Amino acid sequence: MKKNLVVGNMKMNPTSPAEFERYLDALEKEVKGKKFEKTEVVICPPAIYFKQFIDRKLKNVQLGAQNIFWEYQGAYTGEISSGMVKNMGAQYSMVGHSERRKYFGEDEEIINLKLKAILKSGLRAILCIGENIEERKRNQTVEVVKKQLREALNGVGAGKIEYVDIVYEPSWAVGSDNVPTSDEILEAKLIIKKILSEIYGHKAMERVRILYGGSIARCFVNQVCIDPAMDGGLVGRESLVPYEFIRIAETIDKN
Ligand code: PGA
Repeated sequence: MKKNLVVGNMKMNPTSPAEFERYLDALEKEVKGKKFEKTEVVICPPAIYFKQFIDRKLKNVQLGAQNIFWEYQGAYTGEISSGMVKNMGAQYSMVGHSERRKYFGEDEEIINLKLKAILKSGLRAILCIGENIEERKRNQTVEVVKKQLREALNGVGAGKIEYVDIVYEPSWAVGSDNVPTSDEILEAKLIIKKILSEIYGHKAMERVRILYGGSIARCFVNQVCIDPAMDGGLVGRESLVPYEFIRIAETIDKN
């Protein structure tokens, strides 16, 4: 049976190794001796802190990158490849996050290149898709989700799709107080399943985890993850507080 997945997207936080060390102290305290029965827990800190995370040797928390570049190595100043991330000990990389789309101009073509690079290097991909506020006002959620998913997965073969975890994360819910209803999330999930079935067949679709992301907090986790029967969640702000993050993971693990 596939496990749930709970991912902490730390974004560009914290600002010093000392602060990250304190974060790890608190996280270690929360997870020590804890067994998540049916949930994988992943933290995506800035890559500059990977070594510190690895040195902690936390048994029940895995490491993920927030972003990678699609080439394996070479003259690409400032970039980090998926191979480097993998060789540091990470198991996952995010791709397609709405902040990458908004601030760094990442379009479907770039996201597709990155996704394929992630899979090629042997990492699992956490692919984020979802409509923005203008698209939502124009009632284009279905259209946008379909387009983003199809284009991101272009050239990803049937043998690889089970290594992709898909997050429905409408950008209007990210970093805000706006939380979609369970029905809205369920609707997006069903669209994602339908497209996956069309491309890869029913059996392969069933193996793909579909998560929710955007303003997840302890008080909303039932509404956004449990009620629409999501396979987990992508947590931003609340992942910066280990106590809250692990309570969210526990709630998802128990349901
Ligand atoms: P948030 O961020 O939980 O702070 O809304 C989610 C994300 O960006 O992944």
